[in-house]
Amino acid sequence: METVVEVRDLKRTYTVTKGFWRREKRQVTAVDGLSFTVERGEIFGLLGQNGAGKTTTIKMLITLLAPTGGLCRVLGYDTFGQERAIRGRINFVFGGELGIYRRLSGRDNLKYFGNLYHVPPELRDRRIDELLRLVELEQDGDRLAETYSKGMLQRLQIARGLMNDPEILFLDEPTVGLDPLGARMLRSLIARLREQGKTILLTTHYLPEAEELCGRIAILHKGRLLALGTPQELKEQAGQAATLEDAYVRLVEGAV
Ligand SMILES: Nc1ncnc2c1ncn2[C@@H]1O[C@H](COP(=O)(O)OP(=O)(O)OP(=O)(O)O)[C@@H](O)[C@H]1O
Ligand SMILES: [Mg+2]
Repeated sequence: METVVEVRDLKRTYTVTKGFWRREKRQVTAVDGLSFTVERGEIFGLLGQNGAGKTTTIKMLITLLAPTGGLCRVLGYDTFGQERAIRGRINFVFGGELGIYRRLSGRDNLKYFGNLYHVPPELRDRRIDELLRLVELEQDGDRLAETYSKGMLQRLQIARGLMNDPEILFLDEPTVGLDPLGARMLRSLIARLREQGKTILLTTHYLPEAEELCGRIAILHKGRLLALGTPQELKEQAGQAATLEDAYVRLVEGAV
């Protein structure tokens, strides 16, 4: 086993100003002493209610946000201070967010991002063909992205996230807003990525999805770790819950 993500006593506080006339500064603790590790090759799920701290955690892991405390390491490097050693070896996709140029074709989008990562042209074009096939867009690669459905855009985003052949892919709500078949297609794509040896850390609010895909799951609650284990272990921990969803509800409700 090789630990590729290590978070220990991780903290992140935001300072928010409220009020217009009398500006008051207030601290919001989004992540409050979180610890877990992710091993190479696993699909690891982060679950938790809105505001639990999932996206904040991911942003710290992908080197976009500085922790206010604790240890945050990816591939053995600190995400803050050694980010240059990490960035080329990971990638991320935020569901529902537009990381795609709509006035470019799917293929040209991938070219653009391949160039951004300095992928040599020959390898880049070969990879684009492979990825379009992988995300089932080989027929549509030359259409403008603005003509794509939400599901197609989401799959193009995943292809974009794979252009630098990352060792770890971070997916924040990858299936949000997709119809059941589109979401299923994306799940089978994610499962295929694991077979290719990728490590994946994902968030979702759709519990059956987490149960189907994730080897291990961390449930966050108010920035803290509420439970961690395989779907089976979480169900047992919640008193032999029938499904992961039942276990989740019991654990989170029990935490308030
Ligand atoms: N830029 C910011 N400034 C101030 N507070 C923020 C900021 N980003 C997030 N927060 C706060 O931090 C907390 C955690 O937010 P975060 O986005 O990490 O939650 P989440 O688990 O991803 O939720 P969701 O499931 O809704 O995406 C929330 O209370 C949120 O309001
Ligand atoms: Mg979020």
